[in-house]
Amino acid sequence: MERTFVILKPDCMAQRNVGDIISRFEANDFEIVAAKMAQLSKDLLKTHYAHLTHQPFYPALEEFMTERPVLLLVLEAENAIVRARRLIGPTNPEHAAKNTVRGAFGASTLRNVIHASDSRESAKLEISRFFAETEIFHIEKEEVPAFV
Ligand code: PPS
Repeated sequence: MERTFVILKPDCMAQRNVGDIISRFEANDFEIVAAKMAQLSKDLLKTHYAHLTHQPFYPALEEFMTERPVLLLVLEAENAIVRARRLIGPTNPEHAAKNTVRGAFGASTLRNVIHASDSRESAKLEISRFFAETEIFHIEKEEVPAFV
């Protein structure tokens, strides 16, 4: 099993698309092993987006990501990192298929709904940046109960 780190961004929270997006992950066999809301600080964002702070769009990215509290998730699945990136679609929603999260809900490269780790190395770093080990649950995979 592999873990990936996800942020449901301020636009996702404002438009109340959280349930829809979590349903997509659940329908694709991702297990939620950690979840919490957080108001991200500018300092934390500077670490998370360290590779982007020199970009001309960084001030706008920082402003957007601090607009309102976000939802942080750790999701577990086989091949979670690549499969999550496939489900969310490319950075620019205009290039995203309509059946992806960004294709369905994204407005622009800035307001693109969701972040998901792009490699095993980033997933490990990002999970430990946002979650303490005690906040992550070790869940045995169970059969989804059938309706009676
Ligand atoms: S990705 O999805 O991480 O591979 O995308 P990447 O192209 O590397 O972009 C990293 C994050 O920067 C944001 N971004 C932008 N914001 C505003 N304007 C422009 N032009 C722009 N280009 C990239 C993008 O939303 C990515 O955020 P995350 O949270 O990593 O998805």
